[in-house]
Amino acid sequence: MQARGPLMIEHRLIERMLGVVQRTLDSVAVSHSIDPYFVDTAVDFVRVYADRTHHGKEEDILFRDLRGKDLSAQDLRIMNELIEEHIFGRTTTGTLVQANERYRRGDVSAFVEVAACLRTLVGFYPNHIRKEDEVFFPASRLYFSEEEDRAMVAEFGEFDRKMIHEKYTTLVRRLETQGD
Ligand SMILES: [Fe+2]
Ligand SMILES: [Fe+2]
Repeated sequence: MQARGPLMIEHRLIERMLGVVQRTLDSVAVSHSIDPYFVDTAVDFVRVYADRTHHGKEEDILFRDLRGKDLSAQDLRIMNELIEEHIFGRTTTGTLVQANERYRRGDVSAFVEVAACLRTLVGFYPNHIRKEDEVFFPASRLYFSEEEDRAMVAEFGEFDRKMIHEKYTTLVRRLETQGD
């Protein structure tokens, strides 16, 4: 499998989660109330899977290696756009977490912000994914030899292997320091 293969497979799972979030948004538009635990689950998916695991491989491996290549102005521009969009996703998720905390504590007016952040995530991610799948990944493949592409696949595997340990080490560390 080419290096873009695992990234595109991850895109498909991200799309499925966005579908779940969209269906939830459709149903809460009537009730004007949302389960804060559902939001926690969506945040966990976005932070750990979409951002840390998926964007992590893009930024720390694919984009890192592309920086060593003589990128065309167009490809460099798109790579910078993609990085900006990752940052935008993180910022939106941070705002979502804060709004969800206010909502959980009883501030019902925070519902509007929670729903707006979820709508923003559902709105922008599909375009980001399409830009990578259809434009940037095919273009970036041309900068790598077979061997370099295979090396990235191997590094992706190692990156993923560490993720589950990182997630739960972080969780235990957070629980240990809670209440200190
Ligand atoms: Fe991306
Ligand atoms: Fe991606």
